[in-house]
Amino acid sequence: MKERVLSGMRPTGALHLGHYHGALKNWVRLQSEMECYYFVADWHALTTHYESREVIEKNVYEMVIDWLAVGLDPSQCTIFLQSKIPEHAELFTLLAMGTPIGWLERVPTYKDQQEKLKDHDLSTYGFLGYPLLQSADILIYKAKYVPVGEDQSSHVELTREVARRFNHLYGREFDYEQRVQAVLSTIPPESAKRLEKSRKKFQEAGDLKALEGALGFINEQTQLTPQDRERLTGYMKGTGQEILIEPQTLLTQASRVPGLDGAKMSKSYNNSIAIREEKANLEQKIRRMPTDPARIKRTDAGDPSRCPVWQFHILYSNESTQEWVQKGCKSAGIGCLECKQPVIDGILREQQPMFERAEPYMSNPKIVREIVENGTDKARQVAQATMRDVRSAMGLNY
Ligand code: TRP
Ligand code: SF4
Repeated sequence: MKERVLSGMRPTGALHLGHYHGALKNWVRLQSEMECYYFVADWHALTTHYESREVIEKNVYEMVIDWLAVGLDPSQCTIFLQSKIPEHAELFTLLAMGTPIGWLERVPTYKDQQEKLKDHDLSTYGFLGYPLLQSADILIYKAKYVPVGEDQSSHVELTREVARRFNHLYGREFDYEQRVQAVLSTIPPESAKRLEKSRKKFQEAGDLKALEGALGFINEQTQLTPQDRERLTGYMKGTGQEILIEPQTLLTQASRVPGLDGAKMSKSYNNSIAIREEKANLEQKIRRMPTDPARIKRTDAGDPSRCPVWQFHILYSNESTQEWVQKGCKSAGIGCLECKQPVIDGILREQQPMFERAEPYMSNPKIVREIVENGTDKARQVAQATMRDVRSAMGLNY
């Protein structure tokens, strides 16, 4: 069984090279290695842009086409829409009941984003709940890994806390103690005694070796049902059953993509290059990029370390071109326009297959809708199964 991965993105419309190098490249790589679920976080978009109903649909499908363009393959990964699986909202609501407000107020993105997006009123209930909705997204698929950037790791951390609390509160059946004792009575008394000793050593003195030994032993007891083994495991750890899985962040090695001005590439800074930027626009954008301010005249020498174009050479040029830039810039041997051409060529080369992959979807948008519908149906099955466990654990299956 492959391990499960889940990630999502808010639908901001056409994506840019920052999304590609910062996240999507990684998503594409993971799809062949693990069981991947990728979804459009359209409700999350509403937490900050709840008034923009005209563009959301267009943004959703533009983004999915970009996903397909960079190489996400619906036969290898599941692509779906958050808002078409109301179970996410159900889990969010149920988790909200036991989540202290302080946990949400302390998530660093809460205050940061309020500061940053001053022109939006973000003192809403939905915005406070943003990371908890994200927790529901992750937990409902029992995902083991969440590939996200550093900025999202506090949300995954909150997700772990929420899962731990849930398992602690609801991971034990009301007759849990009796059931555990019943399982223990089916194994040889000597072994049961040793397990009890190990449990104390771990829970009272934090002895991890003792825990490992005990879990190893439990795993070998193939005569027990999987449920009973899980029960015993929870008993050893002191956690009860793991109904929700604590996920790990799969940090994307940050290949920082600079914007046209050298700051981080971002749509809101107006310094971005779209994944499928028109050739003429691309050329114009690169040619207008600022360079080392010291190079006022063609004959002035410069220094690539003070030039945003160099950041692009790091991403797109091979060693010999990079050497050519270093030498030519410092000796005023090359002009800036000349220096920019290999960057333009490099981006065009990277984009070529993306345009080709996107073409059939652009000319037949119905296929895109079908891909999303099929993915959503598949994801919904998983979400519904988790919700059955959750409702039952919370005493709601009447
Ligand atoms: N908050 C994420 C972002 O802004 C999007 C997101 C929503 C997400 N739910 C998620 C990412 C679940 C990973 C897992 O990029
Ligand atoms: Fe930048 Fe290249 Fe011009 Fe040097 S030659 S300032 S690296 S664009």
